[in-house]
Amino acid sequence: MANNSLTVTDNRTGKTYELPITDGAIRAMELRQIKASPEDFGLMTYDPGFSNTACCRSAITFIDGDKGILRYRGYPIEQLAEKCSFLEVAYLLCEGELPNRAQLEAWEVKVRFHTYVHTNITKFLEGFRYNAHPMGMLLGVVGALSTFYPDAKNISDPANRYLQRVRLLAKAPTIAAFAFRHSRGLPFVFPDNDLDYIGNFVNMTFSIGGRHKPNKVLQRALEILLILHADHEQNCSTSAVRAVGSSHVDPFSAISAGIAALYGPLHGGANEAVLLMLDEIGDKKNIPRFIEEVKAGRGRLMGFGHRVYKSYDPRAKLIKKVADEVFAETGLNPKLEIALELERIALEDEYFIKRKLYPNVDFYSGLIYQAMGYPTEYFTVLFALGRMPGWLAQWEEMLLDKDQKIARPRQIFTGRDERPFVPIERR
Ligand code: CMC
Repeated sequence: MANNSLTVTDNRTGKTYELPITDGAIRAMELRQIKASPEDFGLMTYDPGFSNTACCRSAITFIDGDKGILRYRGYPIEQLAEKCSFLEVAYLLCEGELPNRAQLEAWEVKVRFHTYVHTNITKFLEGFRYNAHPMGMLLGVVGALSTFYPDAKNISDPANRYLQRVRLLAKAPTIAAFAFRHSRGLPFVFPDNDLDYIGNFVNMTFSIGGRHKPNKVLQRALEILLILHADHEQNCSTSAVRAVGSSHVDPFSAISAGIAALYGPLHGGANEAVLLMLDEIGDKKNIPRFIEEVKAGRGRLMGFGHRVYKSYDPRAKLIKKVADEVFAETGLNPKLEIALELERIALEDEYFIKRKLYPNVDFYSGLIYQAMGYPTEYFTVLFALGRMPGWLAQWEEMLLDKDQKIARPRQIFTGRDERPFVPIERR
């Protein structure tokens, strides 16, 4: 009997099976041979929410949820956040290695070259209502890009995939900024390609009459936040990109599925939900009552808890540092006091300790975005800008993985057996 295997006895039949273990996993298809009778379909696993199912082999991001470790391509997040630009990290994620100076310059030039969008995109955006949620606009417009670039369907050509990756990275800030301007009824500001990636985005969002005064501290803080969000292995939105991309649709459609998944309040939408929660609490004195409500199962403490991290989210630690730098520039966000007190009380409470619930990336990011001048409903758009390179790297990896097939989970059917049709007059 091999050491690296699992022996399973089916007590229904008394038969024993030896299943190979590779990289700490058995292949679910190995279970199919385990049958109670020859007509039996074979054993399946039942794993709603994929809590313990690896859906791919990936070399991009490593997380140790118990130790609070996050690395992109082997590099600790703390070092990347301190030393890199966002485009440098995007290159690392998408191309697999940190760029040398010449590679980085060439990459920046390529991204800069593609920042413009077809002017019909502005007409498309103008079709949205004045109060359209910017995430709805972003996912709609990114999906619509597939109609502007029908060549993107050619996903078997590596050069073509590269071009679409560059297009998505380059155009996402432009679309995001246009969505911001549309919400405020401001004219669109087109890209200024003399500016760097972050500077250009900030200029497109905030410039009025060409009078925006760039604040380098706030721009660097935004850049760090985007780096911290750049990838997080097989989370909900990345799984959506992979699942939709596995049908071999073009990358614009696959990424818009990722944006849709991110929109939800349990995922990227949590940063918006945190601010709404802080508004609802309103005052430090209301915190104990709020915590009791959460513990009674009436609502969640947004920005707390994580499927993978069972200790302090390393991104949340870094974000707290960024918050200090930002608030030194902008003045304290009055809601920070409530957030700090909420964190202190929750971390001492048995309910949160027992369930290993700690602040996640979204707990403090919203406070920073608000101090920078972004409205609450825009926070998840900033998350999406950060996550773009991760989605693109994971999409590419999925396509190159010979093991991958179209995503098509199984179900356990719990419905009615066959029954005779009942005519409408007898129902
Ligand atoms: N507040 C109160 N209780 C919670 C929370 C929370 N934020 N999160 C989990 N729990 C409880 C939950 O009720 C359950 O308790 P019990 O065992 O008594 O039923 C237990 O902890 C385990 O929760 P779960 O829902 O099984 O955990 P999960 O891994 O399925 O969910 C999560 C992870 C992130 C969806 C969840 O923690 C949550 O809803 N958090 C609030 C939303 C949030 O901040 N999301 C951002 C995640 S980080 C950024 C990102 O990746 O998008």
